[in-house]
Amino acid sequence: MKKTIIYLSIILLSSLAVWAFAKRSNQINEAANKDLPEVVMYKNPQCTCCDRWANYLRKQGFPVSVNISDEMISIKETNNVPLNLASCHTAFIDDYIVEGHVPAEDINKMLKDRPEAVGIAAPGMPAASPGMDIDTDDTYEVRLFDKEGNSSLFATH
Ligand code: CU
Ligand code: CU
Repeated sequence: MKKTIIYLSIILLSSLAVWAFAKRSNQINEAANKDLPEVVMYKNPQCTCCDRWANYLRKQGFPVSVNISDEMISIKETNNVPLNLASCHTAFIDDYIVEGHVPAEDINKMLKDRPEAVGIAAPGMPAASPGMDIDTDDTYEVRLFDKEGNSSLFATH
């Protein structure tokens, strides 16, 4: 009898946990669909930091789709991403480009201020950037760039 009660409570507790988790994922999706445009990210098949950045953005409420490509350089070139600002992944969001491990706050600022630009980039693979998270004491720049390849400082982290 005692064993049965313990067994039943375990089943009850695990179904509660599953239910709570399902409810939470639903809320994340609802938040994502309502407020923020989709992030369409391109990455090469070998790179895993890109997926960590995608997951970070999902936690910030963005819906993210991940597309695998072996043509990352030509994707950057045809979409006016200056190669001196290049990083691993290239993402498209609401008429703008986000190159590399850019924090969500900068994306939100760009979507709100809507600057005359192609997009923003966190050049290289900054150690402190979201999805890299190797050295949080490190600093890095996010740059705003235009079609001609000119760029200006957008944010410092
Ligand atoms: Cu990366
Ligand atoms: Cu990557």
